[in-house]
Amino acid sequence: MSEKVVVVGSGVMGRGIAYVSALGGYQVGLVDVSEEALDSAKANINTLLEQGIERQKLTELEAACAKEKIAYDTDLASCVKHADIVIEAVPEKIDIKKSVFETIDAHAPEHCILATNTSTMSPTEIGSFTKRPASVIAMHFFNPVHKMRLVEIIRGLETSDETAAYVEKAAKKMGKETVIVNEFPGFVTSRMSALIGNEAFYMLQEGVASAEDIDKAIKFGLNFPMGPLELADLVGLDARLNNLRYLHEKLGERFRPAPLLEKYVKAGRLGRKTGMGVYHYSKKEGVRS
Ligand SMILES: NC(=O)c1ccc[n+]([C@@H]2O[C@H](COP(=O)([O-])OP(=O)(O)OC[C@H]3O[C@@H](n4cnc5c(N)ncnc54)[C@H](O)[C@@H]3O)[C@@H](O)[C@H]2O)c1
Repeated sequence: MSEKVVVVGSGVMGRGIAYVSALGGYQVGLVDVSEEALDSAKANINTLLEQGIERQKLTELEAACAKEKIAYDTDLASCVKHADIVIEAVPEKIDIKKSVFETIDAHAPEHCILATNTSTMSPTEIGSFTKRPASVIAMHFFNPVHKMRLVEIIRGLETSDETAAYVEKAAKKMGKETVIVNEFPGFVTSRMSALIGNEAFYMLQEGVASAEDIDKAIKFGLNFPMGPLELADLVGLDARLNNLRYLHEKLGERFRPAPLLEKYVKAGRLGRKTGMGVYHYSKKEGVRS
């Protein structure tokens, strides 16, 4: 019998984590409070599996096995009863995370590892919501999960060596590269990405160059796969602003959010998801117009 991963939250990240877990050979329980989110996650995962076959990245058998392995559920307490690892991907709000971790702690077996996919929060604090902080750790996946190669693993103050070793192995089974970092605001990736993205907004605000030329310069001159402004539109300008506010509070002036970014968020220009951010998108396909 294969080990069981329970993924909590079936949004953008949770569905991707469920997909790579199933392909990694785990039994998967994907849990959400919303039936609608689960239906959309199921459709999305099945499409990814079909595309995997079309692109000859998966055989029909591999896709069928992965599909079989995922169960969709709204009852967290019963779903975690036989879990070996739980990966939480609910919204980045501390009250929601706290209640989810308290439920998991009350119902998951003793050996179960409790991971969070938080982008910014403290795994030490999240561990304190449970009676087993040694088993709590952050596994930071990237969007889109099925394409991005890294899982950044962040140890909290009490996280044990066994927990870190377990999640490193689990991430590798899911086909990912790993780095292990110590807890510090923004870890490695969010901190660096926020700084670069914010600087791009300052440049745009100062009239250094057009948005297109800032992105082009960074892509072709520095060999980044995407420009920082198009990336901010993908991540969501509101999410980017929240991260910057948090890093500004924790790490100081160099993370002060660019006023232009704040202005875009106030105007409801949140990026691809609203059809307008730094760039304009055709609503239907999220294509830049
Ligand atoms: N979106 C990204 O690019 C990205 C990247 C890395 C990490 N993260 C982190 O991943 C986490 C999830 O982000 P997302 O973008 O997938 O969010 P999302 O809003 O797309 O999905 C969250 C899902 O959680 C569900 N949910 C809410 N409360 C719940 C509960 N109590 N129990 C079960 N399900 C519940 C919601 O119905 C929703 O489907 C956040 O902590 C975020 O910071 C996001």
